[in-house]
Amino acid sequence: MLRFSIATLQLIELFVSSAVHLLYGFYIFSSAVAGDLSLAINALFFNSKIEPSIRDVTSVNSVNDLPPIVLVHGIFGFGKGRLGGLSYFAGAEKKDERVLVPDLGSLTSVYDRARELFYYLKGGQVDYGEEHSKACGHSQYGRIYEEGHYPEWDEDHPIHFVGHSAGAQVIRVLQQMLADKAFKGYENTSENWVLSVTSLSGAFNGTTRAYLDGMQPEDGKSMKAICLLQLLRVGVIVYDWIDIPILKYYYNFGFDHYNMSWRKAGIWGLVDCLLGNSGPFASGDWILPDLTIQGSLRLNSHLRTFPSTYYFSYATKRTRKFLGFTVPSNVLGIHPLLFIRVLQMCQWRHPPDVPPPFKGYRDEEWWDNDGALNTVSMTHPRFPIEHPNRYVVKDSECQPLQPGIWYYKIVEGDHILFIINRERAGVQFDLIYDSIFERCRKHAFRKIPTMPDHVQ
Ligand SMILES: *[C@@H]1O[C@H](CO)[C@@H](O)[C@H](O)[C@H]1NC(C)=O
Ligand SMILES: *[C@@H]1O[C@H](CO)[C@@H](O)[C@H](O)[C@H]1NC(C)=O
Ligand SMILES: *[C@@H]1O[C@H](CO)[C@@H](O)[C@H](O)[C@H]1NC(C)=O
Repeated sequence: MLRFSIATLQLIELFVSSAVHLLYGFYIFSSAVAGDLSLAINALFFNSKIEPSIRDVTSVNSVNDLPPIVLVHGIFGFGKGRLGGLSYFAGAEKKDERVLVPDLGSLTSVYDRARELFYYLKGGQVDYGEEHSKACGHSQYGRIYEEGHYPEWDEDHPIHFVGHSAGAQVIRVLQQMLADKAFKGYENTSENWVLSVTSLSGAFNGTTRAYLDGMQPEDGKSMKAICLLQLLRVGVIVYDWIDIPILKYYYNFGFDHYNMSWRKAGIWGLVDCLLGNSGPFASGDWILPDLTIQGSLRLNSHLRTFPSTYYFSYATKRTRKFLGFTVPSNVLGIHPLLFIRVLQMCQWRHPPDVPPPFKGYRDEEWWDNDGALNTVSMTHPRFPIEHPNRYVVKDSECQPLQPGIWYYKIVEGDHILFIINRERAGVQFDLIYDSIFERCRKHAFRKIPTMPDHVQ
């Protein structure tokens, strides 16, 4: 009887959270379409030119000397050009003259995103690497960037990176690849190509939410038979198989290198993917396995914090302690999409019959959360070893900024407070992005002993 009612409750929970996620996805999609339509109608009837962005107006030499600030999106994210005029970073990219917003696939793995990010900047055809591509069953070569967005990128022309959620981990993986000289034909890369890394709600150490959405706590890699992620899996496979160009242009999960379209895979390809014999969900080469605690441990085991790069992190939190319990704080301020998860993550217990994800794991350390990630996981890389770090309350405390240390702040807010919808964060939105851009532009410099341009 008890087991029956628990199963019923779980089904209701699954139904409610699927409905909420679908509705939100539909809302985002339709507001993007509506925004585009109204722009098009304006242009058509009033012949009004679409306002040029700041970058187009001021493309003089002084701007070209600035290192770009690259904003890297997280799960379900999208870059400039996708979803019409909608901005993942809610327009924050307009705050500085030189900002890039790459589109890296919304559900692809951290590894694949890091590879794409490199070629997006340098130019050329994305090379996922022979070994990885074979192991994961996708094409070795992907999208072609006719022109890199920052082809001069090198040790003397390093870049600032800002990552939201999984995007922060993408940047760390890319920096490690640069240090390991992992790009064929670019024997000269080094960790110093990255001048600074800023993490907004960064997924450094995985999240217990991955298990609530359906990842198995046993291995952090496979999925439960009935869960939200299974619905997502079927949806993504069908979306990619149907392959309607205009839809794919508008929003893309990033799995083109898996050849799932009916044009290439045929009907049996679809069946094969759905049965779990091929495709990204079969090989585990997608984002969710990288977001489990076990997956993050696997990634972290070879990611370093480098001495000449500046690191700053904002960890978000929408919970507080009350009579010894962890409970949601500012209930009305939580986005409806995240509400159930904030509550569930506050009470998460690792199944007692399953070995803990690592030695010394304690549920209560993971209770504070922002509805998508655990606060403990966002401050700085901690596991398997803790990287140098310093907790900051006021920005002035970390000046002069030193490289090689993760400065971190804890910010009240849910996981999507600083993206998509600028109005939700109000004045906090400007405060946080202004301080990020100011830090990049004014405080994060590498002193190069001989600067040929300046010596003359
Ligand atoms: C996908 O298709 C391309 C050409 O259309 C081919 O070169 C590539 O090998 C295919 N990849 C896989 C994994 O089947
Ligand atoms: C590699 O970097 C060094 C110093 O940064 C430079 O002198 C050399 O020309 C570079 N080589 C290539 C192939 O880019
Ligand atoms: C992150 O994962 C590692 C295992 O790789 C674990 O040792 C560490 O405790 C985790 N971090 C936190 C904050 O618990």
